[in-house]
Amino acid sequence: AAQDNVFKIGLILPMTGQQATTGRQIEAAARLYMAQNGDMVGGKKVQLIIKDDTSLPDVTRRLAQELVVNEKVNVLAGMGITPSAMATAPLATQSKTPLVVMAAATSSITEASPYVVRTSFTLPQVSVALADWAPKNGIKKVVTLVSDYGPGIDAEKYFNQRLTFNGGQVTEALRVPLRNPDFAPFLQKVRDAKPDALFVFVPSGAGAAVMKQFLERGMDKAGIKLIGTGDVTDDDQLNDMGDGALGVVTSHHYSAAHPSPMNKKFVEAFEKANKGLRPNFMAVGGYDGMRVIYEALKTTKGAGGGDALLAAMKGQIFESPRGKVFIDAQTRDIVQDVYLRKVERVNGQLYNVEFDVIKDVKDPGKTK
Ligand code: DHB
Repeated sequence: AAQDNVFKIGLILPMTGQQATTGRQIEAAARLYMAQNGDMVGGKKVQLIIKDDTSLPDVTRRLAQELVVNEKVNVLAGMGITPSAMATAPLATQSKTPLVVMAAATSSITEASPYVVRTSFTLPQVSVALADWAPKNGIKKVVTLVSDYGPGIDAEKYFNQRLTFNGGQVTEALRVPLRNPDFAPFLQKVRDAKPDALFVFVPSGAGAAVMKQFLERGMDKAGIKLIGTGDVTDDDQLNDMGDGALGVVTSHHYSAAHPSPMNKKFVEAFEKANKGLRPNFMAVGGYDGMRVIYEALKTTKGAGGGDALLAAMKGQIFESPRGKVFIDAQTRDIVQDVYLRKVERVNGQLYNVEFDVIKDVKDPGKTK
């Protein structure tokens, strides 16, 4: 049957709603990867089926079920936020379908199913570098402000632990709802507490609102530094944040300004294909996720089903636009360099300019 020659990837993303920028970035990256690498792989014709889960986990699970049962997809992928990945993991296990997590970044997601492979990052992985940098740069007392769910809790915990170990102190830990957050009352509290810095984790797409309200309150002028994981100075929004963002230091695994030849080509091709849209860390998670799927299909030629594909995903080492990466065969999580970056104006545009690197960082959040 013609069907035997088709390899289906069910890509579930938030294309509408609060997390829509994540879906837009990952879809664009997946399409770019396919445009650059063709759709004939290991003798199969690759078909991408994109579904919008609006970032509601019940919808993610229902769509995944339909994709597995009706469409008979070979791989599930996407997962814009942690609750979506967690809701889909049991189905991946039951149906023995690899689930390539391209966005969601709570440490424990890879432990929710042996079929999960992650190409994004984890919050513990990127948070500790900043807690090493801060006390060496005059930041001792910090208030943390995180979105109140998996990745925020991870960021809060690992940043606090490492800062305390380094002789610093988290004086207050604030949590703001994921859905329709109002940052104003929290920022007012921070202004009154007057710490050396405010550490922020909010998911991709929410950074601009935090930055705006931080600046409107004159918190920078009151001597409070804004620091955070790179989600807050998201390349998708950074250039519109204005000069107030200059100097903000973050730690993350990807910047569109990463100065490698491969990244320059990636950014150029991505912007060209998407009316000037700058790729962010979500795009890179999607691009690399497609790479992991394509290489696994090349190796297996589609034989052996989900288990064979999964085995061929484990242990992949390759150059990503972010730098060299490795899919740890034991944890199925990504090992990668983490960069310290500062917002600077380059050729008239705001970028996260990398100034230091910690090589080959494993997720410190794994319990085993
Ligand atoms: C998650 C979502 C994000 O948009 C992000 O930047 C980091 C983590 C998540 O839900 O896991």
